[in-house]
Amino acid sequence: MKAKINRRTFLKTTLGAILASGLPAFSLPHALGKPKKAVREFRFSASPAKVNLGVGPDFVAWTYNGQVPGPEIRVREGDIIRVILKNYLPEDTTIHWHGVPVPNAMDGVPEVTQKAVMPGKTFVYEFEARPAGSYIYHSHVNYQLDQGLYGALIIEPSHSRDLHDREYTLLLEDWVMMDGGGVANTQRRPPMGMRRGMMRRQRSSGPGRTPLLEPVYDGYAINGRVYPEMNPLGVGKGDRVKLRILNASSATIYDLRLAGHALTITHVDGNPIQPVETDVLRIGMGERYDVEFVANNPGTWLLGARERGFGEGMLRIPIEYKEVRRKEPVPPIFHRGLRFATYWDFQALHPLDKSVSVPADRFYPQTLSGGMHSPFWTINGQVYPDAEHLAVREGERARIGYWNHSMMPHPMHFHGHFFKVVNPSLPYERWILKDTVIVDPMQHVEIEFLADNPGKWFHHCHNLYHMEAGMANVVAYQAD
Ligand code: C2O
Ligand code: CU
Repeated sequence: MKAKINRRTFLKTTLGAILASGLPAFSLPHALGKPKKAVREFRFSASPAKVNLGVGPDFVAWTYNGQVPGPEIRVREGDIIRVILKNYLPEDTTIHWHGVPVPNAMDGVPEVTQKAVMPGKTFVYEFEARPAGSYIYHSHVNYQLDQGLYGALIIEPSHSRDLHDREYTLLLEDWVMMDGGGVANTQRRPPMGMRRGMMRRQRSSGPGRTPLLEPVYDGYAINGRVYPEMNPLGVGKGDRVKLRILNASSATIYDLRLAGHALTITHVDGNPIQPVETDVLRIGMGERYDVEFVANNPGTWLLGARERGFGEGMLRIPIEYKEVRRKEPVPPIFHRGLRFATYWDFQALHPLDKSVSVPADRFYPQTLSGGMHSPFWTINGQVYPDAEHLAVREGERARIGYWNHSMMPHPMHFHGHFFKVVNPSLPYERWILKDTVIVDPMQHVEIEFLADNPGKWFHHCHNLYHMEAGMANVVAYQAD
């Protein structure tokens, strides 16, 4: 008994020292006895800082703790995540836990779930890490996502059933390498029909602002490094390698391929699926894929993106076998006839729900438009914040149908919930769970969600420049 008290005192003192040092502190629940759940505490300072991506100039990005991307948060399912955010930026900020069904007050959407954190102020985010999966955290204010304010959030399963030998997190980023990051005085695609004079960009915020056009990116980075100035991913012959691929880019969808290997997709947006083998993996903004490959082809290879004419082909990272003497890595070639997995090839791995045959309680048609003769992007012709709420009641099953009437793909993201992607050729319980779904130009996609997390939930295109130009609305319901 006495020994135990001493040990406790010792641990508390140690913990106090860790806290005082300003490093991330981890409480020691077993040793300390009382709390069942481990509290994992992180201190995040949002501040401008000089960064370098390995290629290109030093520039001032907006960062968490002075680094891009921000520190990886890695916890176990069931842990309590506590992030103490201090704002050293010249404007308001927040953090959104992209994909995690957090309680509404922790969701980090200014004017919807909280008052934005003003310069000099502190805000504490705290929520349970659940369910296991690969997530992204990022600012949800203005264009801060494109200025560097994002990072990886990995929730490991509480009982590890992982069979792989190595695991890497790959956070994909699109950069404009100049002070202020993506908020640059350049543009990528002028909306058709817009006259030159109208395209002058204005930096402004608040209702009635003129939205910015997508910038021309000049740095496609993985974990803050542009190829070739990066460390290769080391593998050993015979290893089963897991990659958590997270697209934190503001406006870039990638088609990825690993030269010399097939990829097996195991999780979509953190949710397990029946494994699907593919040559090419398409990943939109806000999407996450866990993939595996078997290192059975010794050499030095590149995992890289297909070039579409905007520089995406610069996004690359070498995979290097330990046994092999380093040589020029082999790039992926995108030729016809490659396997290219789509949502419609995926099935949920462990269907939890029973089959439902009755139609959903609600149906919301959402027409996605924009890009023509207007700087705005709209849902049903509306420009957020001048957009109607989608009302549901707690416990209802709601379906949203997207009709993309534009020539751009829109990765539609819904906060606070996972949704099923409707797949008429599969039974309901096999539909995959996601939180972000790409709706391609002129295509139609439907999703369904269960209203089981009351609050006001942002729902929007995850192209940051479309979101800021109005392509968003709010799903709202109260606890019954
Ligand atoms: Cu990744 Cu509304 O967020
Ligand atoms: Cu969009």
